[in-house]
Amino acid sequence: MCGIVGYIGSKSAKPILLDGLKKLEYRGYDSAGIAIFENDGIQLEKKKGKIAVLEEALKGKDWKGTVGISHTRWATHGKPSSINAHPHTDCKEKIAIVHNGIIENYLQIKNRLIEKGHNFITETDSEVLAHLIEEEYHGDLSEAVRSALTKVEGTYGIVVMHSDHPNLIITARKGSPVVIGIGEGENFVASDVTPLISHTKNVVYLDDEEIAEISADKYRIFTIGKEERNHEVSKIDWGIEDAEKKHYDHFMQKEIFEEGDAVYNAMRGRVIPEEGIAHLGGLNMTDDEMRAVKRIVIIACGTAHYAGRVGEYMIERYANIPVEVEYASEFRYRDPVIDEGTIVFAISQSGETADTLAAMQEAKRRGAKTLGIVNSVGSTIARESDGGTYIHAGPEIGVASTKAFSGQLTALAILALQFGRLRDMSVSTGRKLVKELIDIPEKIENILTQNDFIRKLSEKYSIYEDFFFLGRGINYPIALEGALKLKEISYIHAEAYPMAELKHGPIALIDDKFPCVVVVPKDDYYEKNISNIQEIKARDGRIIAIATEGDKEISKIVDDVIYIPPTMDLLLPLLTIVPLHLFAYHMAVKLGRDVDKPRNLAKSVTVE
Ligand code: AGP
Repeated sequence: MCGIVGYIGSKSAKPILLDGLKKLEYRGYDSAGIAIFENDGIQLEKKKGKIAVLEEALKGKDWKGTVGISHTRWATHGKPSSINAHPHTDCKEKIAIVHNGIIENYLQIKNRLIEKGHNFITETDSEVLAHLIEEEYHGDLSEAVRSALTKVEGTYGIVVMHSDHPNLIITARKGSPVVIGIGEGENFVASDVTPLISHTKNVVYLDDEEIAEISADKYRIFTIGKEERNHEVSKIDWGIEDAEKKHYDHFMQKEIFEEGDAVYNAMRGRVIPEEGIAHLGGLNMTDDEMRAVKRIVIIACGTAHYAGRVGEYMIERYANIPVEVEYASEFRYRDPVIDEGTIVFAISQSGETADTLAAMQEAKRRGAKTLGIVNSVGSTIARESDGGTYIHAGPEIGVASTKAFSGQLTALAILALQFGRLRDMSVSTGRKLVKELIDIPEKIENILTQNDFIRKLSEKYSIYEDFFFLGRGINYPIALEGALKLKEISYIHAEAYPMAELKHGPIALIDDKFPCVVVVPKDDYYEKNISNIQEIKARDGRIIAIATEGDKEISKIVDDVIYIPPTMDLLLPLLTIVPLHLFAYHMAVKLGRDVDKPRNLAKSVTVE
């Protein structure tokens, strides 16, 4: 999941390409590189490490060129190093390419080209693209790129430049996102809109197997099959300030403090309190079609998957439709049964996660109606699904997903309400649900006022190396999400279990060095949870409880309590998750982790 940027115009390309990389650094950050057309040739600089290392290396280089490409890497083939960093060049260093994706048949191509005398210098799969284009080049760069791409298998988002074509860059995509930024006398290419927004709001999203020839004042799009294509120019609906940290120390912190707004934005204009109903416009389904739904399958990965598991409880309870939640990567290779009346929801913040996209394509191939619950506008899952809804959480830059999770839960609650009110959910239940939903943002703000208390708590518990996260019913997926957050940003081992599962084995690990974070609000499971908490205490376990305001009893049993305001049982996850996100955030800060760019991770996983 690398980040690629291209620029062609009249301004100095170097600062634009570097700034673009910084905006994409959440996609991959183990090495970076840049190529600029300068002095009739291509100047190249590549460095292992974060973009700051590359920036330092470029300090002395007074490159004024107005055409260039750049790349920030998340290594797949070949370890992070300055050699394996992109851009890659051909034998004569006339062609430079940056690539996001995986070339699956790169070894065959590489061996064939070596036999033809090509000299490879990296361990990467991507380098074959530079040599293959060199092999296919006979004066027409876009034809060489097109012909080369007909020979590769796998996924790619690429930008290519050639020193014989100083006024041209070529881009193409298959499986990996590419968006073109349309400027005044300049044009841009990037993996997503974040590097473009400070230059233009006019963008064109490339589809799979499309190539674009781009010069400073025009662009032409055609397919690998040489078919001309015209695309609508889309307008980005958020501003650069939304993608900036403002007064926060980290994007993740900012995005946790935007969880209330995310809930509000995901329901804005979609609920009608008086009638206790909801309407998600983009589903492209009539009320009759929604009534005819017999089964819902939710496919997603990581945090989005856990949101789906919360949605399962909401939809089954409020709409009485059977729901199955699948790991997208497993669903696509299993023989999923898609029968009459089955619809498939793909949940994804980025809208580009390869496993979720491929699982959705598989469901579509088997005849299912596919619907996206997506944050990134114009992303592939949004464009390839039959319909869906945007959660409008705004750009999420921190690799660890937070506010998008709140937006996803809200969209799922609204879906449950829409399906439910088209079936046998009463007006009064609908009105109560809408009223409680509308009150959630303020309750989240209330929880966020405990930021300092939660910071002190995480510092107190930063001495421990293992944690259990426990919850029952709809709060079990919240325990899963809480454990994932602690793992991915603080690198502390954390596992989540349904509360009652503990005594079937995991309790063997409990002692005074293995704390438990228990989600135990005043819901139907309260008494049962208390007995399980007693079992942990009996084994000297340390316990942090997420409990409902006013619950004095719990503070007598557990070591520490974080209180949340009350709400309906099935909306509790929108509140119980907030202290867990903050706990993980402060733990990571305490342990000196790179919170926004945790090791080995990337924001959008665009390879399998
Ligand atoms: C969550 O913090 C992680 N970044 C990761 O698990 C993420 O949720 C997963 O990769 C799915 O991403 P998506 O929502 O963009 O599809």
